Amino acid sequence: SVAPAPSGAGSGFVVVANRLPVDLERLPDGTTRWKRSPGGLVTALEPVLRSNKGAWVGWAGVPDVEVQPIIEDGLELHPVPLTAQEVEDYYEGFSNGTLWPLYHDVIVRPVYDRAWWAAYVEVNRRFAEETAKVAAEGATVWVQDYQLQLVPKMLRMLRPDLTIGFFLHIPFPPVELFMQMPWRTEIVEGLLGADLIGFHLPGGAQNFLYLARRLAGQPTSRGTIGVRSKLGVVQVGFRTVRVGAFPISIDSAELDEHSRRRSVRERAAKIRAELGNPKNIMLGVDRLDYTKGIDIRLNALQELLEEGRVDPADTVMVQLATPSRERVQSYIKMRGDIERQVGRINGEFARVGYPVVHYLHRPIPRDELIAFFVAADAMLVTPLRDGMNLVAKEYVACHSDLNGALVLSEFTGAAAELRQSYLCNPHDLDSVKDAIVGALDDERDTKRRRMRSMRRQVLTHDVERWARAFLDSLSHGNIAGSALLSE
Ligand code: ADP
Ligand code: G6P
Repeated sequence: SVAPAPSGAGSGFVVVANRLPVDLERLPDGTTRWKRSPGGLVTALEPVLRSNKGAWVGWAGVPDVEVQPIIEDGLELHPVPLTAQEVEDYYEGFSNGTLWPLYHDVIVRPVYDRAWWAAYVEVNRRFAEETAKVAAEGATVWVQDYQLQLVPKMLRMLRPDLTIGFFLHIPFPPVELFMQMPWRTEIVEGLLGADLIGFHLPGGAQNFLYLARRLAGQPTSRGTIGVRSKLGVVQVGFRTVRVGAFPISIDSAELDEHSRRRSVRERAAKIRAELGNPKNIMLGVDRLDYTKGIDIRLNALQELLEEGRVDPADTVMVQLATPSRERVQSYIKMRGDIERQVGRINGEFARVGYPVVHYLHRPIPRDELIAFFVAADAMLVTPLRDGMNLVAKEYVACHSDLNGALVLSEFTGAAAELRQSYLCNPHDLDSVKDAIVGALDDERDTKRRRMRSMRRQVLTHDVERWARAFLDSLSHGNIAGSALLSE
């Protein structure tokens, strides 16, 4: 249902993110339609917003279109327009050519470009102004992620009546790396406009506290920060800014239920059959991003095949890769490298009609994706760095049958919670290979025990608990925050 949004009093709860939960898609015949946006931020926040009837301010995913506010399924969407030049400088440039690689431990070298920074400031201002129009008097505004780090301060200057939260969905880097950023003080001060700043892990929150002292010159607490507890504080004049760790999650119960449906089980069996009923199906599901370590799992597979530790006659790997940031140079190069690697492995080890690696470069419909999770004997999650990684949690939520095993990089946020996975160091290929072999060959009972323990974690720590913990801390004991999370 798509209807114009009401104008007037404004919204009491507003999420601000670079992207709306849906992307406008231009079809070849000139018409447009909405499709789900890529990435974990949308996966996590969409169910939260639906149960709270809030408004969402974000970009519609295509340049140079002015879209009117719409109500879609009870969600109020407020599109912020970007020109083609802004997409290039703010989104592909500063957000994904500077901040993304810097915050992911400089896997790729960040580019520091003054014109990109100018566009970042300009677009952050536009988001702040649009939000100031949408939010009701005294509303709670929740700003999301690295693309919008200046919005908290800009919004506070426009609307001092608002309660402002900020959550970073990617890692917050070590201090030594952050110090490379030419506009480091501006970014720290931008974030300090919020009342509460959330990170996935205590380590990120601690790094930020140090920088608030060093760069913004503000006094801060010095105690250890806990998970959803023991918040840090920064004193900014008369305001107290809280800083905490809130590991994000998924709608676990919904996914658990969905994965048990007969239609999904039947589709999973059919996928197995279509793959030739191999003994082992290994699965990778990622945006095609250099942080995800897709190349690493392919290298590991190649060596395991060469050494005869994995038999190409009874093992397949399926890699489902959503296209992402396709005009950014580092992504173009990585795609070529990965596709060459897939070709090389199949060239050496496949038989006609039986590839060892099945590679799809496209987003997969939700039902189909869940069937793949159910069908997979081992899930390979091998990022060099990842703030959380929701795919790991999704796989676990889909295994009420207790089958399956999760290979998980230590350098993901999820590794802090999923201690019973097959943990590996993606920088150490032997460690990845051993984890894969363990995940495939361990005793059934061992694997079931590990899966049971991971399921306990994922099912009790869902995304609603994440949102509640953050919003409760934001409202700081005042019940307005909990009231935002009905049910
Ligand atoms: P990121 O946010 O960096 O993309 P996450 O693992 O946290 O990484 O979240 C990715 C989200 O996108 C998950 O909900 C996952 O199911 C979804 N996703 C990833 N790859 C695909 C794909 N090929 N098709 C459909 N959905 C995908
Ligand atoms: C990650 C980021 C999100 C982003 C998503 C998809 O999850 O944390 O902010 O939306 O990737 O990336 P994209 O550039 O397509 O929005």
